[in-house]
Amino acid sequence: MESYDIKDPKLAEGGRRRIQWAAREMPVLASIRERFEKEQPLKGIRMSACLHVTTETANLMHTLQAGGADVVLVASNPLSTQDDVAASLVTHYEIPVHAIKGENNVVYYKHINTAIDHKPHITMDDGADLVSTLHKDRRENLDHVIGGTEETTTGVIRLRAMAADGALQFPVIAVNDAMTKHFFDNRYGTGQSTLDGIIRATNMLLAGKTFVVAGYGWCARGLAQKAKGMGANVIVTEIDPLKALEAVMDGFRVMKMVDAAPIGDIFCTLTGDINVVDKHHFEVMKDGAIVSNSGHFNVEINIPALEEMSVEKRLVRPFVDQYELPDGRNIHLLGEGRLINLAAAEGHPASVMDMSFANQALSAEYMVKNADKLESMVYSVPEDIDMEIARLKLEAMGIDIDVLTEEQVAYLNSWQEGT
Ligand SMILES: NC(=O)c1ccc[n+]([C@@H]2O[C@H](COP(=O)([O-])OP(=O)(O)OC[C@H]3O[C@@H](n4cnc5c(N)ncnc54)[C@H](O)[C@@H]3O)[C@@H](O)[C@H]2O)c1
Repeated sequence: MESYDIKDPKLAEGGRRRIQWAAREMPVLASIRERFEKEQPLKGIRMSACLHVTTETANLMHTLQAGGADVVLVASNPLSTQDDVAASLVTHYEIPVHAIKGENNVVYYKHINTAIDHKPHITMDDGADLVSTLHKDRRENLDHVIGGTEETTTGVIRLRAMAADGALQFPVIAVNDAMTKHFFDNRYGTGQSTLDGIIRATNMLLAGKTFVVAGYGWCARGLAQKAKGMGANVIVTEIDPLKALEAVMDGFRVMKMVDAAPIGDIFCTLTGDINVVDKHHFEVMKDGAIVSNSGHFNVEINIPALEEMSVEKRLVRPFVDQYELPDGRNIHLLGEGRLINLAAAEGHPASVMDMSFANQALSAEYMVKNADKLESMVYSVPEDIDMEIARLKLEAMGIDIDVLTEEQVAYLNSWQEGT
């Protein structure tokens, strides 16, 4: 096997048990793996994946490998790696992994460069750091690449910006665009696991707390709903009037962040934007306020401003940094402002990643079959793949749905029939 860089191979056994536990909730991916084993659609394909190294990702790697791919995995975030999973992938699955939880930025990019050294035909990204490094610093390796896939909203936004600039040099499939991805992963997965991360980091009771959710997109909607379900008083902040209106009609208080800042107990940003919680917000927050982020990058909270304002910073619990301000107030930042569901918890539950990663596996297969017909653009997941995943998921859940009768098909396709 190629070289690897992980925390400790001795963690492998525990990692394997957790990978197998996740597999129980991933029946769609399992059915794809079975077909891949027989058909070998990825035979001879070198793949470099830059994803959160979790139990669910391990099941995806195993599926790609079963399809014949030669896979290397690196982290897509310095704090999201599960070291036992990395150890098991290396030890039991013979998949080279370069990822260590808590790696610094230099090591993070060293690992991404290792993924590029693999000379991938296909890139698989979560946040587009791999594709962006390839285009910025390692252009001599662009020739081998036939295409890529991208997992998350922020990555898709970056790739569309690259395509609009004429910079993107190969086709990429936006897995996030699939309905079987963002309807479920972003909403239910991020919603539940973000609360899980905040609770694991703080062990605080949510009932009765004022919980400020920044954004009301797919992820934030899920979080707002779940926090409400736990008895929190939820406030939503938005910049999009339509989303703000939707939040109002869903029963949430909507206001500007500057108005929410003095009354919030817990804050969580899920916008994909920068400095959503900023210096002037910290200035008016209550003593003890908890600030967290579950958007892709750690720029949603202005951490440099908080550092500059503070007279002291201390780690009071794992994943909880307490910043003391000159007037004696304390503000608590969770997980260094990185995706809290992956930093302090385990990321999305396997049941939703089953669909997200089914999209990844089938998109990789589609890319291998169709790359020569695609341009250097960002493509959505083909609708038939999306629908097939929904069908397989329902089947795995033992749920039957109605099928249109011939009469109904004719009716729905006619314009003559009216009142
Ligand atoms: N934590 C995770 O595991 C996880 C999972 C999926 C996606 N993500 C990331 O979460 C982020 C959000 O993803 P999404 O799918 O919900 O995107 P989305 O586009 O559906 O929603 C983002 C929302 O934020 C709003 N917004 C932008 N700037 C704002 C501001 N300054 N104040 C308030 N609202 C603002 C937008 O109007 C939009 O409604 C992205 O960075 C995405 O990559 C994280």
